Amino acid sequence: MSFETHLTASQQHIESHLARLIADLGPEVPTRLASAMRHGVLGGGKRFRPFLTIATAKLFGQPAAAALDAGASVELVHCYSLIHDDLPAMDNDDIRRGAPTVHRAFDEATAILAGDTILTLAFEILARPEAHADPAVRSELVLTLARAAGGMGMAGGQTYDLSAEGRFAPDGALVPIDARRPQRLTQDEIERLQAMKTGALIRASVELGAIVGGASAAERAALVAYGRALGLAFQISDDLLDAEGEAALMGKKVAKDSAAGKATLVGLLGIPEARRRLDTAVDEALAALTPLDRPTDVLAEAARFMASRQT
Ligand code: IPE
Ligand code: IPE
Ligand code: MG
Ligand code: MG
Ligand code: MG
Repeated sequence: MSFETHLTASQQHIESHLARLIADLGPEVPTRLASAMRHGVLGGGKRFRPFLTIATAKLFGQPAAAALDAGASVELVHCYSLIHDDLPAMDNDDIRRGAPTVHRAFDEATAILAGDTILTLAFEILARPEAHADPAVRSELVLTLARAAGGMGMAGGQTYDLSAEGRFAPDGALVPIDARRPQRLTQDEIERLQAMKTGALIRASVELGAIVGGASAAERAALVAYGRALGLAFQISDDLLDAEGEAALMGKKVAKDSAAGKATLVGLLGIPEARRRLDTAVDEALAALTPLDRPTDVLAEAARFMASRQT
């Protein structure tokens, strides 16, 4: 089976679980808020992160159902991050997953609140007994996702991403849009930024699967190394697709990063060199899997998919 067939096969399962989680929120949730949440979560995403969680838990003999809440939790954090990433104050995008962004379909305040509610829901479902029978395991899942989403992870990385556009003066003042001068970041700095803004959630997707599966410390460390390399590969491929991908396939606008002054390896190194770095990140991910005495073929395919994906 090709990797894309594997990915598509799990999408329906994840989609219906996400739909059920939002439907179960209860009648007190304002209709407008619930509609905005559905708009931001359901339909169109690749569901790559929950796929990773489920595939990782499977290494340890766990059925998909055992990792579904953990996978959904990281996908919810991802969906919230996209809703906020698209806001006018951030990347100012109108199209996401082939549809109007949440603030376009609703309004900015509703999009902010839908993001807040989706983020909160992610942690609620991890804290419930349905996520895992053992409270210590649930606590470990919550801790891992919280660290990946917060200041050391996605939200911190997003802050560096916006700073690199030259938005903030050294004294903290906001620089007017036409006076912004992008910061010149080194390759290491860009990779660190990307490890936080995108890498942290990809790594956590794998790590949550390892936790659900009961991985040993050594196995978990190998999987974290895999997730770290995969996360970098994922963002480099996103940046390459911004430069040379097709908007119709991507379901979002392309050719935006350079105009916005984003710090990317494509901008720093050019397309051929960035593609070579993508290939070495894929090799690093594959190498990280070798110490594992587990059936890692699907995770290896997921890493190779980074170099070939068009969406
Ligand atoms: C896009 O993520 C944003 C990044 C972190 C680069 P995905 O490419 O996984 O987006 P969806 O979930 O499939 O829409
Ligand atoms: C998004 O990176 C990373 C997030 C944490 C959401 P981008 O800003 O490059 O993602 P797209 O290209 O809008 O999907
Ligand atoms: Mg962004
Ligand atoms: Mg964006
Ligand atoms: Mg992008």
